[in-house]
Amino acid sequence: MAMKSYVKTRIEEEIYRKLDIKHFSSSTNTLHIADLGCSVGPETYSAMQDIVEVIEFKYISEGLIAQIPEFLVFFNDFVSNDFNTLFSSLPPNKRYFAAGVAGSFYQRLFAAGFLHFVYSSHSLQYLSKVPEEVVDKDSPAWNKGKVFYTSAQKAVVVAYSAQYGEDMESFLCARAEELVRGGMMVLLMPGLSDGTSYSKCSHCMLYDLLGSCLMDMAQMELVSEEKVDSFNYPIYIASPKELEGLVKKNGCFSIERIEMVSRLTEEEEPPDVEVFTMHLRDGMQGPIKEHFGSEILEELFDRFSQKIAESSSHLIEESYKKPNQLFVILKRKAQAG
Ligand SMILES: C[S@@+](CC[C@H](N)C(=O)[O-])C[C@H]1O[C@@H](n2cnc3c(N)ncnc32)[C@H](O)[C@@H]1O
Repeated sequence: MAMKSYVKTRIEEEIYRKLDIKHFSSSTNTLHIADLGCSVGPETYSAMQDIVEVIEFKYISEGLIAQIPEFLVFFNDFVSNDFNTLFSSLPPNKRYFAAGVAGSFYQRLFAAGFLHFVYSSHSLQYLSKVPEEVVDKDSPAWNKGKVFYTSAQKAVVVAYSAQYGEDMESFLCARAEELVRGGMMVLLMPGLSDGTSYSKCSHCMLYDLLGSCLMDMAQMELVSEEKVDSFNYPIYIASPKELEGLVKKNGCFSIERIEMVSRLTEEEEPPDVEVFTMHLRDGMQGPIKEHFGSEILEELFDRFSQKIAESSSHLIEESYKKPNQLFVILKRKAQAG
């Protein structure tokens, strides 16, 4: 995909220009890389291969062939991730050793000063939990009849944003401990352009649309309204400014790049409704299955697909052609933050 190649080029550029391999080579001959929220592949394999190749290239072009390190890649996700599928599908010609590390990336996962490079793609939008206030009937932030904050009251947005701030701080503090000084972090996640309202954000519109399908089903008594009221997505879509503020507040990382990128170029065709809904279902169904059970999935996603089709593909265009992905490169500061 174009986003991948645009992002890939930028990652290569930043690694090439800024990764401090001379400093690394003096202290180790194994580089430790982690993919946080790797899922089961295949995206993770190609990302890891690309990163290893560009680091090797940097050693060669700096005349350090004799010092090219070995690479050890840690694939991280929750304990419930299908690590068997992941490890049985690793490319046989990979140029790194592979290990799994199970657990939440909002906590420490590695020993201090152990990692040289961290990558995380489309995982940091997941909050560690749904903010408690939004499912509390007695709170002004109770998000009745909605599953997301797109068109919710201000108190709901504030609760989501506070949870995201807390989670990002935990993430940054854990990584600040684990990364060596000069270590690099590449983060890619759904984002919201600065100054854009939630009602114009394609990710937010889609969660709202799915919420409206659940409410329709509640009205037809296919699910209980109470069950819908107590369900909210643990997802947050940050803007570059918001994320920049959190990184600066944390103080342990320099911001090397932070920008919004789109998934496809003008020339490329987005998928049709069926494929689009299938991809969305893969990404969205987990929390629904957990809360409502799997019985409602067919009906819910049929309705969802119909509503997307009724949007005259405008939602698909928005999702693929507008810059709606946050691309961030950070470096661990030399001084403790
Ligand atoms: C949408 S998938 C992205 C997979 C892959 N990185 C990619 O770019 O295609 C998000 C993954 O993040 C994982 N994830 C979400 N929150 C996490 C957390 N706190 N700790 C570890 N993994 C997490 C999920 O389990 C899921 O596998």
